[in-house]
Amino acid sequence: MKKIIAVYPGTFDPVTKGHVDIIKRASNIFDRLNIAITETNINKNILFSIEERVRIIREVVDELQLSNVSVNSFSGLLIDYMHKIGATVIVRGLRAVSDFEYELQMAYMNRNLDPNIETVSMMPYIEYSFLSSSIVKEIFFNGGDVTEFVPDAVLKYLLKKREDNVAGKENFKD
Ligand code: COA
Repeated sequence: MKKIIAVYPGTFDPVTKGHVDIIKRASNIFDRLNIAITETNINKNILFSIEERVRIIREVVDELQLSNVSVNSFSGLLIDYMHKIGATVIVRGLRAVSDFEYELQMAYMNRNLDPNIETVSMMPYIEYSFLSSSIVKEIFFNGGDVTEFVPDAVLKYLLKKREDNVAGKENFKD
């Protein structure tokens, strides 16, 4: 029987517990789930490099012990990447009504680019419906506690970023 390969694309800067919730749910449905991290996103100010984002999500997935989940980066069109790996389904999280218009537009555009590709929208657990990567960064860099919103691996990398930033500023003073 044909195996269904799904991709879960995103910027994941950084991955949050809301994303992890979708990863777990989707890995239960599809034969294989590929987390596809976009290398560039012209609309966003990126904190973590693509190498860091791949490393962080791999750590998170290893910890979850989900054997059908893999992590890769991609550049260019998502559809082209999907053709390369033989994926036919796009998984997207739908948190609130405010996500709907953007998600609908992307789903229609991707279908226009390849009518054989299906987009499946999944609702995260209600606790995570207000979460976003930007909110996590904003809380963290303003001294707030984000432990309930991100996996442990992410917290470790956020702390490291903050240390590096402080060290960078100290060097600049000298
Ligand atoms: N839990 C928590 N947060 C979630 C979430 C969930 N379940 N689902 C989405 N989010 C948040 C993300 O954290 C992100 O927050 P941010 O804006 O503060 O960073 C936001 O919702 C949306 O980000 P994301 O899901 O990562 O999507 P994106 O808009 O960053 O990425 C791509 C969209 C990468 C899939 C899209 O741009 C793409 O396909 N790019 C490739 C080029 C291409 O093919 N373009 C044509 C597409 S039609």
